[in-house]
Amino acid sequence: MKKTVFLILLLIILSLVFSGMIFAQAKKGGALAATGASVWDYLKKQTYAKNWKMWPGTTPMYQGPEPHGAFLTTYVNDAALKSIGAKKGKFLDGAIIAQDNFSKDKKLKFISVMYKVKGYNAKDGDWFWAQYKPDGRIEAEGKVDECIKCHVAQKGNDYVYTSKLK
Ligand code: HEC
Repeated sequence: MKKTVFLILLLIILSLVFSGMIFAQAKKGGALAATGASVWDYLKKQTYAKNWKMWPGTTPMYQGPEPHGAFLTTYVNDAALKSIGAKKGKFLDGAIIAQDNFSKDKKLKFISVMYKVKGYNAKDGDWFWAQYKPDGRIEAEGKVDECIKCHVAQKGNDYVYTSKLK
């Protein structure tokens, strides 16, 4: 009798371990790769400018500072929105910010993107950076020095400018 109980317990434990492993694998497979091409594909599939929320407190085409453009519209995915709302000072893994950058005559010039990837670049906040032309051409991607050099001024605010995270 004792032996049966033991075997049943063992079976339960083993199945828990295995399902945990499968879950971890599925999660890994589902994560968006930190490359300019895959992030652009994802943004297109999401139709971010239609389906994502704007950064809380911002409106479409607000007047922005250089270098991003005269007018800006800043979109956030669910993970980013949650991070901003939580007021914990940091973005969650998987958070994406996509900012449309317009010229003075309100033409879309660039899309600037920050994507939080745990373990990607620990010394600079684990951000993947990318900038695209409206047709998806990649102007910059990766651990882009030029972006980091300026955004590092906001290190205490997880490298972002638009609003305080705490
Ligand atoms: C000279 C400074 C500077 C450089 C260089 C720069 N940025 Fe920014 N960035 C800013 C400022 C200032 C804002 C705030 C604009 C606003 O009001 O939303 C901003 C905002 C952003 C945002 C919206 C989130 C936030 O920080 O508020 C993204 C995304 C972004 N930048 C991406 C990039 C990328 C990608 C690069 C490099 C290709 C880059 N930036 C280079 C100054 C800079």
